[in-house]
Amino acid sequence: MTDWLEQAVFYEIYPQSFQDSNADGIGDIPGIIRRLDYIRGLGCNAVWLNPCFLSPFNDAGYDVADYYTVAPRYGTNEDLRQLFAEAHRREMHVLLDLVPGHTSVEHPWFRESMKPEKNEYSGRYIWTDNIWTPVPGMHTLRGISARDGSCILNFFSSQPALNYGFLHPEEPWQDAAGSPAAEATRKEMENVMRFWLQCGCDGFRVDMAGSLVKNDPDGEGTIALWQKIRKFLDREFPQAVLVSEWGEPEKSLAGGFHMDFLLHFGPSHYNDLFRCEHPFFSKEGKGDASAFVEKYCESRRKAPQGLICIPSGNHDMKRLSRQLTPEEMKTAFAFLLSMPGAPFIYYGDEIGMRYLEGLVSVEGGYDRTGSRSPMQWDSGPNAGFSSASPEKLYIRQDEDPDRPTVAGQQADPDSLYRTVQDLIAFRRQHPALGASGKIEFVYAEKNAYPLAYVREKDGEKILAVLNPAARAAEFRPACLAAEGSPAELLFALGGGGSVSGGLVSMQPCSAAFFRL
Ligand code: NOJ
Repeated sequence: MTDWLEQAVFYEIYPQSFQDSNADGIGDIPGIIRRLDYIRGLGCNAVWLNPCFLSPFNDAGYDVADYYTVAPRYGTNEDLRQLFAEAHRREMHVLLDLVPGHTSVEHPWFRESMKPEKNEYSGRYIWTDNIWTPVPGMHTLRGISARDGSCILNFFSSQPALNYGFLHPEEPWQDAAGSPAAEATRKEMENVMRFWLQCGCDGFRVDMAGSLVKNDPDGEGTIALWQKIRKFLDREFPQAVLVSEWGEPEKSLAGGFHMDFLLHFGPSHYNDLFRCEHPFFSKEGKGDASAFVEKYCESRRKAPQGLICIPSGNHDMKRLSRQLTPEEMKTAFAFLLSMPGAPFIYYGDEIGMRYLEGLVSVEGGYDRTGSRSPMQWDSGPNAGFSSASPEKLYIRQDEDPDRPTVAGQQADPDSLYRTVQDLIAFRRQHPALGASGKIEFVYAEKNAYPLAYVREKDGEKILAVLNPAARAAEFRPACLAAEGSPAELLFALGGGGSVSGGLVSMQPCSAAFFRL
């Protein structure tokens, strides 16, 4: 039912910053519809849209005030339905961003829950039974209403946690997971999902999916909760896709998610590759991918039934280009676009948009603001993002006259954009590179280059070798016979490489894919 994931390549859209269609300086849904052909032309056939619902925007929309209504600045519910229809017309899919862990303090449920009189929403959030009760290890909102108690927070101070109960309640004010109040919250979140799935969305990226049940260090209660939600979806919307922001595939995939993101925090060693003092994909060649590979293989062993997604970045991380040059990013994309799971490209990463240092925080972005600047389309005013005057833009743009643009890179056969486009097309042509194809690492040594793996599906076998370092590298994988004949080179970046007599030889700063 979710077969489309096998060949999916996602594009993440931060709606504020993608395309403004009404000259108010902020992106919107009609703007996204206008740019669907661009996304399709790059080769992406699926979109993850960050939250676009009514919100006071203290956390860029991750503080929802009404799950059922599109924020007017982005358009209307009808515009969003139209986006689904236009995407489907192009054989594309759209995931919305579901924020089940918390709402905005401005959500009507929260306003009701602040009242001292018991009402339908008194148990929708987690309140202590007395304003003076200490709550060790959790942040709370206190002294904000006549209700005698403090309210547990999930993220910023304006984001109270919804109540899904505690795995092991220890205090009288702590409901159990599965208690009537916790079940009511789950049911309401299912209503939200039902509403948007009926409008035509194809599933959800789920925010902080591992945070729902409290006092649940191993995720046991939260996994059980997601299994129930999965049952609801299997019953009513078996085609709906769920992708988790959890960062621990062995947990999220057991909960019934189709795919889990690796994140810039958590145990995955994702940062070792692109965002640390010596990233593996830098040409200085001082990186180490081995801890990443070890953890990745362990997660796959423990959760063989689902997919792991390694994104190019997202709205919470510093952009890839902050530490990598366009040439280095090409090798990084050769990796990202040849791994199992569905790849996610953060808008603008395909042209190497820059992380803008030192911006004043916008809508709770803080140091994330520099990764959220408006898309750079062409050499026109505001790089084609908006016809508003520049000071009205949601976030200021990269002011470098040489800033990368889509138009510039489309005209240049050697651009990062072209490489990403070619790599996506190459992935599509080869079933072995699809989401569920097997992977076996054949060279992933500590502090060593290159990184190599064999992908395999339906009788097709492809050896992928990545050598980001500015020095040549060679190795003899056990999977190649010493007397073997030269392997066919299918795709190369930089100087590429060769396989002959069981020896793989790579040029500096290169990537190569061989048929085995
Ligand atoms: C993760 C989201 O990606 C981030 O942008 C947000 O601030 C937090 N969750 C809170 O919802």
